[in-house]
Amino acid sequence: MTSFADISVATPPAVGGDIQFDFTGKRVWVTGASRGLGRAIAEAHSRAGARVALTARTEESLLDVAEGIRKHGTEPLIVSADVADAAAVRRCVSKIESAWGGLDVLVNCAGISPVFQRAESIEDDIWRSVLDVNVTGTFNCATAAVRLMSRGASVVNISSIHGQVGMERMAAYSTSKGAVDALSRTLALEWSERGVRVNVVSPGYVETDMTEGLRGHPKWRQYLLDRVPVGHFATTDDIVGSVLFLSSSAGRYMTGTNVVIDGGWTAS
Ligand SMILES: NC(=O)c1ccc[n+]([C@@H]2O[C@H](COP(=O)([O-])OP(=O)(O)OC[C@H]3O[C@@H](n4cnc5c(N)ncnc54)[C@H](OP(=O)(O)O)[C@@H]3O)[C@@H](O)[C@H]2O)c1
Repeated sequence: MTSFADISVATPPAVGGDIQFDFTGKRVWVTGASRGLGRAIAEAHSRAGARVALTARTEESLLDVAEGIRKHGTEPLIVSADVADAAAVRRCVSKIESAWGGLDVLVNCAGISPVFQRAESIEDDIWRSVLDVNVTGTFNCATAAVRLMSRGASVVNISSIHGQVGMERMAAYSTSKGAVDALSRTLALEWSERGVRVNVVSPGYVETDMTEGLRGHPKWRQYLLDRVPVGHFATTDDIVGSVLFLSSSAGRYMTGTNVVIDGGWTAS
């Protein structure tokens, strides 16, 4: 089966005139880029011709990703920061501005899901950390980045099906993703006059470190798979195509939307 890793769109196909998945010359910032979905999203944009800026909490965690991207011909920018720290995020944006002078795409992918506990057992600091990273982090990066963006720019926020459907023991995470969905709709309205689009991608369960514990647990693995009509978890390749679509000019009439990629979970 062809994966996104095999597809090169350096010479992009034109679809219906001038609509293209062409990122040549585009400047793309991806948070949560050290592994999992964010890494796959950064690599896919790079393969499509973009320059990419990579964020995770530490520079060390990004070196391997940067090395891989360098091999595809674009020199990545490493801008490490805790996305929950507004001042650190503003420093990232200043570095991007110095290096590139502007920004065409932001993908907010940094996120955490540190607990799988009933609501009444979640400790205060854990609750706050989930909201700080997932919601305030998305807010910090988007509001700092927009000042570098001009007409045609795009923000893609990675949410989750749990922004829309509940699941026991996921109170903090679900709450945070519901807030990301609401924030994204409002940003889409506020920034449409600037020509900056804001959309959401909401995956179901993807094979990454984040879900390893649940996927490896016999009872919860079965619980999850019972809710996925297609019968298997997603790979990162199943998600990146929709992100590329929304961040490219092919998605240029889409703003304020939420693209659910869940193997049918929310259809049932
Ligand atoms: N996997 C799934 O099934 C799934 C489903 C729906 C939605 N999502 C969402 O997709 C996104 C990526 O998930 P994933 O599965 O790829 O998770 P992952 O493998 O655990 O990766 C999380 C990424 O976020 C970064 N990160 C965490 N806290 C950060 C912070 N405070 N500041 C900056 N970066 C931070 C991590 O970098 P460092 O740890 O190196 O700092 C890492 O790059 C998340 O928003 C998640 O909620 C995932």
